[in-house]
Amino acid sequence: MAILVTGGAGYIGSHTCVELLNAGYEVVVLDNLCNSSEKSLERVKQITGKDVTFYKGDILDRDVLKKVFEKEKIQGCIHFAGLKAVGESVAKPWEYYNNNITGTLTLVDEMRKAGCKNIIFSSSATVYGDPAQIPITEECPKGTCTNPYGWSKSMLEQILSDMQKADPEWNVILLRYFNPIGAHKSGLIGENPNGIPNNLMPYITQVAVGKLKELGVFGNDYDTPDGTGVRDYIHVVDLAVGHVKALNKIKENVGLGIYNLGTGTGYSVLDIVKNFEEATGVEIPYVIKDRRPGDIATCYSDAAKAKRELGWEAQFGIREMCADSWNWQKNNPKGYKE
Ligand code: NAD
Ligand code: WQD
Repeated sequence: MAILVTGGAGYIGSHTCVELLNAGYEVVVLDNLCNSSEKSLERVKQITGKDVTFYKGDILDRDVLKKVFEKEKIQGCIHFAGLKAVGESVAKPWEYYNNNITGTLTLVDEMRKAGCKNIIFSSSATVYGDPAQIPITEECPKGTCTNPYGWSKSMLEQILSDMQKADPEWNVILLRYFNPIGAHKSGLIGENPNGIPNNLMPYITQVAVGKLKELGVFGNDYDTPDGTGVRDYIHVVDLAVGHVKALNKIKENVGLGIYNLGTGTGYSVLDIVKNFEEATGVEIPYVIKDRRPGDIATCYSDAAKAKRELGWEAQFGIREMCADSWNWQKNNPKGYKE
């Protein structure tokens, strides 16, 4: 029996493939490579010494989904495939809703036709909007999202929950990731953004490697200890392990499960700059800029539920996250391009 990993060639997907293979699972990846490279899967093989079955295809394509479910014995799906650039989603809402929502509806329809009703969905802390409480527990009400990307996650949580309610044969686990950074220790796989990065850590590593001149810090007048935004950064390998733990939970016929995957600790933008400099010895010049529209001051998790119910807890600290992000970037200054 195998696990279908949609979006498995991407940043979080490739790290999760490694942990699944290490845990003894067979892995089938479906990815259209719109934001990734097949090289990541070659590197996954290099790291684990094990093979991944790869289908290049789209979750919107019923034919390819049918083929995967006919040919492979799929016991469950970890569903990463989706578009994730917040700013782009504001400019292209139809494309985001079509890819993320129609894509997921198509996937789960083909899953149920094939009799496979186990899914782990990549959700996001963005569904809490401007959170009603800090630290954020899973009971915290979902909030108003500030962009179509966030809404697509929020709506998909609702859709998958409603499907599970109507048909209790489904096991649905919604994993709400906080801010994934870092890379595999080998430096062989990591985050590979197209163009100028939107997210903090890839921006910092590209400043460090000399591709970008300086970091712009988006606002230093928030109600936080140093005025800059506070987030719950989590090592991508910890996040990947969280998916293996969630698969164990599915074996208990969980029904619907919702879990935050974060460390429970918040760091400001300037904390990250300082930790990166200390972990790597590379200086990061920065300038203070205006606030970025849609940003909130503070967002970090209460991670107790995942510990209690999944037996999962983040192992890596902020220094390792910074060091591993840098190790990946300096060994692969052009990402997966030679
Ligand atoms: P990523 O872009 O590296 O990976 C997504 C993968 O999905 C890519 O390989 C892409 O080619 C593929 N894909 C996209 N649309 C597809 C489609 N229609 N059919 C087949 N493949 C398709 O992104 P990531 O950072 O690894 O994120 C993985 C998931 O986690 C996404 O759903 C994302 O929204 C979610 N998430 C990410 C973060 C984050 O900060 N990285 C935080 C919360 C949630
Ligand atoms: C972190 C902090 C910025 C860049 C986003 C999505 C969210 C989730 C994770 C997918 C903030 C500051 C950033 C820069 C900066 N993704 N910053 N200069 O905004 O918390 O979350 O990624 O689900 O949905 O919104 O992450 O890395 O963009 O920002 O000062 O060049 O760094 O203002 O305080 P964010 P981020």
